[in-house]
Amino acid sequence: MFVLDTDAFSLLLRGHARVTARVAKATEEVAVTLITRIEILRGRFASVINAENGERLLNAQRWLRESEHDLNRFTILTIDLPVAAEFDRIRRNKKLSGNGMALNIPMILKTVLVDYTLPWDGFHGIAHWARVLENGLKLAEESGASLEVVKLFAILHDCRRLNEGDDPEHGGRAAELARELRGVVFELSDREFQLLHRACAGHTHERSHPDVTIQTCWDADRLDLGRVGITPSPFYLNSEAAKRPDTIRWADERATTGFIPEIVSCEWRIELEKPE
Ligand SMILES: [Fe+2]
Repeated sequence: MFVLDTDAFSLLLRGHARVTARVAKATEEVAVTLITRIEILRGRFASVINAENGERLLNAQRWLRESEHDLNRFTILTIDLPVAAEFDRIRRNKKLSGNGMALNIPMILKTVLVDYTLPWDGFHGIAHWARVLENGLKLAEESGASLEVVKLFAILHDCRRLNEGDDPEHGGRAAELARELRGVVFELSDREFQLLHRACAGHTHERSHPDVTIQTCWDADRLDLGRVGITPSPFYLNSEAAKRPDTIRWADERATTGFIPEIVSCEWRIELEKPE
């Protein structure tokens, strides 16, 4: 069985050449998971519910119908007993290791965006933050980086830029904003806050750092350089996971095509114009 995750399914819907070719030549059954179905449709429902005018409402309805039609072309993998048992096992582990308060990223975003002066769909805007977040989460599976720090870095590191070009102080401003927001819209241990502050402050001008969480943050950002026409170089990456050609290829393709991760519409409830 060939299973498309949400990213691959989204690329397929957009006619991505390599994904389309792979699905076309699949001899095995092609499937998507229930999670992908939820992620895709949740975003479409949100677009309908939050439409600001009639034209957007009609477009949202059309996207919803198209997505339902596309999802129905594939087998939906359902949750069975072994999957439910694994779910229970992971939940138990999370309870043991968590710091007791989950990050509310939509609320943090809402706070940050009040004073974000650049275009939301700009080079350093929301799609970039989302790709950095997903790059970071992917790298963290291997590096063991703090997921809370990786997520907060993604949202905060560029959010106090004053322009899309030369702005060497924006890392420091982001670090100080993190200090202001700690205890107000997110909680973080002292150790993790130090890492977040350092990662934001140094991402503008430092190449490497011995801590794996800071490495992961910086790598996640640099893997998205394709959006401004720069192919990420292993020389400027820290972790082995980031330096691997398949990782660079995966991230660079998303960066160069302006890929908008599903979390932007599904979880953050922000609608960005899809790039042509
Ligand atoms: Fe960035």
